[in-house]
Amino acid sequence: MEIAPSQRTCPAAADVDPDDLTVKDCGVEVTEVIGQGTRVDQVPFNGVPPEPMPGCCYPVLETEPSCVYGRPLKIEAQALRSSLVKDPTWAASILLRPLSTEARHALAERWCRAALDEHASIAAFSRVALDLLRLGAPPELIEQAHVAALDEVRHARQGFAIASALMGSPVGPGAFPLGMEVPLSAGLAEVAAEAAEDGCIGEAVASLLAREAAAICEEPEIRAVLLGIAEDEERHSLLGWRTVAWALRVGGPDVRAAVENVFARAARMGVAVPLMGDCDDPAALAQVGLLDHEASRRTARRALAEVILPAARALLGSAGDMQNQLAGA
Ligand SMILES: [Fe+2]
Ligand SMILES: [Fe+2]
Repeated sequence: MEIAPSQRTCPAAADVDPDDLTVKDCGVEVTEVIGQGTRVDQVPFNGVPPEPMPGCCYPVLETEPSCVYGRPLKIEAQALRSSLVKDPTWAASILLRPLSTEARHALAERWCRAALDEHASIAAFSRVALDLLRLGAPPELIEQAHVAALDEVRHARQGFAIASALMGSPVGPGAFPLGMEVPLSAGLAEVAAEAAEDGCIGEAVASLLAREAAAICEEPEIRAVLLGIAEDEERHSLLGWRTVAWALRVGGPDVRAAVENVFARAARMGVAVPLMGDCDDPAALAQVGLLDHEASRRTARRALAEVILPAARALLGSAGDMQNQLAGA
């Protein structure tokens, strides 16, 4: 938090409004200030050279960072995605009503990013299918993972079509940045935790975001795309719940602990939504089916409180710390 050079001591933690604190990108928010501030000469921020301004640093709780739409493929906790290239093979042509050059530019950036994230989800489900095969999952789950990968191919194509229309030239994904070896999950507990985080939470939120965006979208072609994505992401979220239910049934206490940990963390820290691009004109955003950041945050909070955490409570039963941690959420 920046303070005036004349202010020698930091305000007490109880007096600090979390909204006044500088936050990182990717939609992270400070939810609670948990300790006293320390005065520093310069406050570095997110790798950017600091302004010559003294400030106070506070220990805080933050929402979980999430820089992606949908389900990314993560290698060593890093989400991978391709770079954007000129490519006519992914994008069908879509006709949009005219937009200002400025709005077109900002909105294209957001749709390019969403399309690249959908493209990365193809790889994520390919790995989910291999993990499920390796762990002896029932055929329905393996089949649904493959179907989900095909859904993501469609989402990526639709996203690149919209991005290309906004860019004025066809764009697509470069080669996916994978090496020769793709590490699979360490075991059932990790598969269950990933299904809880990316499927039960991430894709449920993605589904509701797409549905809310469709409700405000003024372009019929984009609205139809968003409604299709909302339905598919809902199914992908169900696959997450089914995977967690199966893993809890066949796994030991470590599986249960891993799943409880994911939901307890979400209850404590909330879910962040992607923050991308510079356009904050609600009318321009609505035209091409994008929610502003505040609307996305509201939707994610509602999804967590009204759908995801109640379902987690029902799935995990009534015993243990989990219930205590989720009770106040
Ligand atoms: Fe998707
Ligand atoms: Fe998905």
